[in-house]
Amino acid sequence: MTVATWSSANQDRAKQILSRYPDPRSAVMPLLYLSFLEHGSVTDEGQRQVAELTGLTAAQVQSVASFYTMYKKDHVGSYLVSVCTSISCFLLDADEVLSAIEDETNTPDGETSDDGLFTVEHVECIGACGGAPAVQVNYELIEGVTPAKGRELCRWLRDGRPEVVLGDELQQLFGGRRSFDWGPSEPEGAFVPVPAFAPYGSSRGDQP
Ligand code: FES
Repeated sequence: MTVATWSSANQDRAKQILSRYPDPRSAVMPLLYLSFLEHGSVTDEGQRQVAELTGLTAAQVQSVASFYTMYKKDHVGSYLVSVCTSISCFLLDADEVLSAIEDETNTPDGETSDDGLFTVEHVECIGACGGAPAVQVNYELIEGVTPAKGRELCRWLRDGRPEVVLGDELQQLFGGRRSFDWGPSEPEGAFVPVPAFAPYGSSRGDQP
């Protein structure tokens, strides 16, 4: 199937993305996120469609998609809970945080819950070492998470099923010590498990 099968909104977004680059090949990464949104994961078909849009070969698109762990090949739950287990977080009990989240969601690391609500994963350093242990929900950051707070977070997501997750709110409710006491607040949240810089995973996603 061709990109003509995409939703008209995503076809429009694809055109907008392509119009920003003098060379369509440069649009491969945002278009892969768009294909993720269209298909619910980065499928072989989606990669072929991105190749069609960019003029790259399917192998070239696959080489990009397979390099970055954020291009998920399997369907992802409504809430992608990522727990950093690299050294700074590991030293501050990240493994216990991950275990608590796996247990609370009944979802082993790397898998998606039966109800499709949670995908749980461990990740390498996400650049918040000063606020370890660090967790993300749909790439919205929470620092200083304890095992108990990790459990609370999962219950809160399950009970409330927020359409948009807001990092500032998550930090306030479930976080602890942060890397910095200063810095801009981020009023925009994420509504799908796609990195906000996509920018189509953020609540500003419809803005060109
Ligand atoms: S080691 Fe966990 S954020 Fe850097």
